Amino acid sequence: MDKTALEASAPEQADRSSPCGGPAFLLDRHPPKDDFAADVLEGLSKPQKQILPKYFYDARGSDLFERICRTPEYYVTRTELKLLSDIGPDIADIAGSNVTVIEFGSGSDAKIRRLLDALPSPCAYVAIDISRAALEPAIEDLSRDYTDLTVGGIVADFSAPIELPPEARCGGKKLAFFPGSTIGNMERGRARLFLADVRAMLAPGDGFLVGVDLRKGRDILDPAYNDDEGVTAEFNLNVLRRINRELGGTIDLNKFRHLAFYNEADGRIEMHLRSTADQRFEVAGEQIAMARDETIHTENSYKYSVPEFVLAAESVGFRVLRTWKDRKSLFSIHYLAAI
Ligand SMILES: C[S@@+](CC[C@H](N)C(=O)[O-])C[C@H]1O[C@@H](n2cnc3c(N)ncnc32)[C@H](O)[C@@H]1O
Repeated sequence: MDKTALEASAPEQADRSSPCGGPAFLLDRHPPKDDFAADVLEGLSKPQKQILPKYFYDARGSDLFERICRTPEYYVTRTELKLLSDIGPDIADIAGSNVTVIEFGSGSDAKIRRLLDALPSPCAYVAIDISRAALEPAIEDLSRDYTDLTVGGIVADFSAPIELPPEARCGGKKLAFFPGSTIGNMERGRARLFLADVRAMLAPGDGFLVGVDLRKGRDILDPAYNDDEGVTAEFNLNVLRRINRELGGTIDLNKFRHLAFYNEADGRIEMHLRSTADQRFEVAGEQIAMARDETIHTENSYKYSVPEFVLAAESVGFRVLRTWKDRKSLFSIHYLAAI
């Protein structure tokens, strides 16, 4: 079923008025705080303690992520931005005119601007992100700068299928966009389910442009997640700060250290918070105990070979029309067609 045909669900907060220009709509379907508490308590009760990476992105987390993108070690952002500029004409040829662009995990607006500038007269852009703090200013700026475009935003968790509101339709084809290798933050099986959810939002002939980080050596990967300035460490620790603030936590951040390394067997960067002491703390009224050197696993960033990603996409109803890589084969962008 084409889910764009469905009405937006009733209980969400909607702001559709834009008397002085600005976004055409901003729908807030942010998950409730109870979900955050339940997920954190469940994660901290596992033998390998865990916090889901989607909880990194409060306002400060989103800001820190933008700073990570500017560190010299984090090749991902600058490589993908350059590649997007280089392949813009190719993307435009395949996508055609009058498309509605739907971006997952949009964050700041840097990448979408490259895509919108390349496309011939796109008609609508819908940003989806769990972080309202990142999404709102981005769609405000875009709606000011792209006056012919219907710009809207949905604050939502893309772990579940997203229903688009009627305002997000403008008649032409849809082009979903998922840059940043955010797909790498999902377990490989979960990534396939996500691809299937996106496929279900699209009609045959619609497209899906996905940025995917490639497998490579530790010499590049380990520094990318351990920048000298310590921004990635601060981003990782910030989730504990968020737990203290939003869930009445009593965690002493000084008793944790950032740990990130490439797990070659699983083809993923693992990010953890390592306890530097035997300690106890409280989260949402529950006591948590941690031993010295025990870790909380906070994020994976899976790397793919091109054939691995093509296989995953083609197993859920896409055909890979084009794959582009940068000169050093650090990063890939795939154009998938819904079949
Ligand atoms: C790795 S950052 C990438 C940001 C940007 N797309 C880029 O390419 O630089 C991940 C983005 O996805 C958002 N995000 C993470 N998990 C999410 C989820 N489950 N649902 C919706 N957005 C999510 C974050 O807020 C953040 O903006």
